[in-house]
Amino acid sequence: MTDIVESVEATTLLDELTRLPGREDPYPRYRRLREISPVVRAEDGALVVTRHADCVAVTRHPKLGHLPSHMMEFVRPDWADHPALHQLFTSVLAKNPPDHTRLRRLVSSSFTARRVQALRPRIAQMVEDLLDRMSGEVDFVQALGFPLPVNVIGELLGIPEPDRAQFQTLVRDWTQVLEVITPEVLETADPAAATIREYLAALTAERRKDPGDDLISALVAAEEDGDKLTEEELLTMAALLFAAGFETTTNLLGNGIVALLRNPDQLESLRRQPGLAAGAVEELLRFDTPVQLLSRVAWDDLEIAGVPMSGGDRIVAYLGAGNRDPERFADPDRLDLARADNAPLSFGGGIHYCLGAPLARLEAQLAVPALLARFPRLALAGEPGRRDSLAIRGYTSIPISVG
Ligand code: HEM
Repeated sequence: MTDIVESVEATTLLDELTRLPGREDPYPRYRRLREISPVVRAEDGALVVTRHADCVAVTRHPKLGHLPSHMMEFVRPDWADHPALHQLFTSVLAKNPPDHTRLRRLVSSSFTARRVQALRPRIAQMVEDLLDRMSGEVDFVQALGFPLPVNVIGELLGIPEPDRAQFQTLVRDWTQVLEVITPEVLETADPAAATIREYLAALTAERRKDPGDDLISALVAAEEDGDKLTEEELLTMAALLFAAGFETTTNLLGNGIVALLRNPDQLESLRRQPGLAAGAVEELLRFDTPVQLLSRVAWDDLEIAGVPMSGGDRIVAYLGAGNRDPERFADPDRLDLARADNAPLSFGGGIHYCLGAPLARLEAQLAVPALLARFPRLALAGEPGRRDSLAIRGYTSIPISVG
C-alpha cells in the first residue's frame, strides 16, 4: 500500500487547472501530476487520479458511485432549491442502481441504435447544407460545430427548428455547475436551467396531446414491465439528452478540427483516405477530449493504484490525463489518426457509459471528412477563443478560412 501524496506542487498544478491560462493547455500539468503520484489530493480534499488504468477503475469500481439524494442534504443542504443543481443531481447521470438501472432502461428502449443509424442520411444532408453556406472566413463553431449537433439532437427530440439556437447560451450557462460551483455561477446557471425546463415542460405537454415520431413522444410512451417515467423524470431526461446531445459534440468537432489544422500531415492523411474516419474520430476523442473529468464518491474503504481510500472520499478521474498516459498510449502527445488499439476514455465507462456515444461518433465521422473534402485550402484564420472551463473543454470561437 502507498500513502496518498500530499504535494505542494500537485496542489499548485490542480489549482492552476481551475482557471485560465493554466487550463489553456492542461496536458503538461497532467503529465507532471502523473509523475508525482497516481493519486494526489486536491485542496478541497478530493482524490485525483490521472492514469488510464485508474480512470477505468474509477468508472467501474463497485464501491464508487454518486451521493444518494438523502445524503446530498449534508453536503449541500440547499441543492434542491437550485434548479441548476436539481436538474443535474436528479438525472440518470447522478443516480445509483437500482434507480439508475430503471431510468437507463426506460430511455434506452426509446433512444436505440436503430434510431441513431436511421439518422445517417439526414445528418449527411445537414452537413452538406451547412458546408454550402460557408465561404471566405467563418467561425467554425457558429458555422458547423454548434448548428450540426443542436439540429441533430433537436430534430431527434422534436424541438422546432427556430427554437434551437437560444439553447447555445442557456446550456453553456447551466453546465457551468460542472465546474467549481460558486454563488456567481449559480446566479447564471439557475435561471438558465429553469428556462430550459419550462420550455421542455410546454413541449412535452403538446406531445402528450399530439404525439409525433420524435424521442420526446417516445419517452412519454416508454414503458417497461408496466413501469413509466414520471413527468419529473421525463423532463430531467429530456434536458440532459438535449444538453449532452450538443454541448459535448460541438466540442468534439471544434477540438478535433483545431487538432487537425495544427497537424497538417494528419489532416492530409484523412483527406486522402476518408475511410480512416472511424479511427480518426477515436483519436480526436483521445487527443483533446470534450469531457475532461468525472467524479464519484466512495461508499466504503477501497484501494485504487495501491492507494487506500476511505468511505466518503470524493474521487475525480481526469479522463483527459488518462487519454495521454504513456503506459497506455505510445507517444501520447502525438496526434496519430492511424493509432492501433486505441481506447479513449472520453465516453466514460461502466454503468454510466455515455448513452449518446454512437450518435456523437456518427456526427463526427460524417462531418469531418466532408469538411476536408469540400475545402482543400481549409486553414486557421486566427487564434481560437478558449472556453473558460475544464470539465467541458472546448472553444468559444474558431476562425477558419475555407478559401
Ligand atoms: C463527443 C461527445 C460526447 C462526449 C465526450 C460525452 C461524454 C460522456 C461521459 C464522459 C459520460 C459519463 C459521465 C460519468 O460517468 O460521470 C457521459 C454520459 C452520458 N452522455 Fe455523453 N458524451 C457525448 C455525447 C453525448 C450525446 C450526443 C448524448 C445524447 C444524445 C449524450 C448523453 C449522455 C447521457 C444521457 C449520459 C448519462 C448516462 C448514464 O448516466 O447512464 N452524450 N457522456
